[in-house]
Amino acid sequence: MKTGELIGSGKYRNCFSIEGSHLCAKKKRPFHFKLKNLRPGFFRDLNKEEFHVYSNLPPKLKEFFPPNYQIVGELLISERPRDYSGEYSKIIQEHGPVENASFWEDIDTIFHLLIEHKIWLFDVFNKGTNIIVQKVSENVFRPVIIDCKKFGLKSYPLQIHLWLESERRKKLIRRLSYFHQRFKPDSLMVKPKK
Ligand SMILES: Nc1ncnc2c1ncn2[C@@H]1O[C@H](COP(=O)(O)OP(=O)(O)O)[C@@H](O)[C@H]1O
Ligand SMILES: [Mg+2]
Repeated sequence: MKTGELIGSGKYRNCFSIEGSHLCAKKKRPFHFKLKNLRPGFFRDLNKEEFHVYSNLPPKLKEFFPPNYQIVGELLISERPRDYSGEYSKIIQEHGPVENASFWEDIDTIFHLLIEHKIWLFDVFNKGTNIIVQKVSENVFRPVIIDCKKFGLKSYPLQIHLWLESERRKKLIRRLSYFHQRFKPDSLMVKPKK
């Protein structure tokens, strides 16, 4: 398994293509002694932790992840989603607003599954780097979650309010609402009934 070009980077990990395949590999970013690297989580094995989170997800949620999620050594491997055109799909931050009703129905489903199973993945609806817009056909777009690491009380023990389930729920609702503001066109917003 040989890693190739860099296809994306987050705050914690870089993601590389794997030559001769449609897979990619996440790898911890190299440590530089900078203040920004001292954020919680930098010294944890986030690949292993994320794989553990993924493994315990309900099957219905796993459907929104790329296939072939696996750990190989220190790498976290997964497939790179592709559009019906054959091109690799984009993260929503690069794609911009998504004018597609079925995409937003799926986002709704994801949100309700997270709430129902009390899975507090606040980072799924972040600035748009953890969800890919996969164009399955001209009319059907699908969200694919590519990052499910969990930062909870272990990283932020001082956020005492998050000990309360009602507060966690509120935080997830807030995140989803920013996500809507950023990426959901007005035409698809449900208008409040008068
Ligand atoms: N399965 C994938 N397909 C395509 N790109 C991916 C995939 N997984 C990760 N990436 C890219 O790598 C970036 C960093 O991965 P991510 O898991 O979000 O790292 P971090 O923990 O640093 O946020 C993503 O924002 C995305 O651009
Ligand atoms: Mg990320």
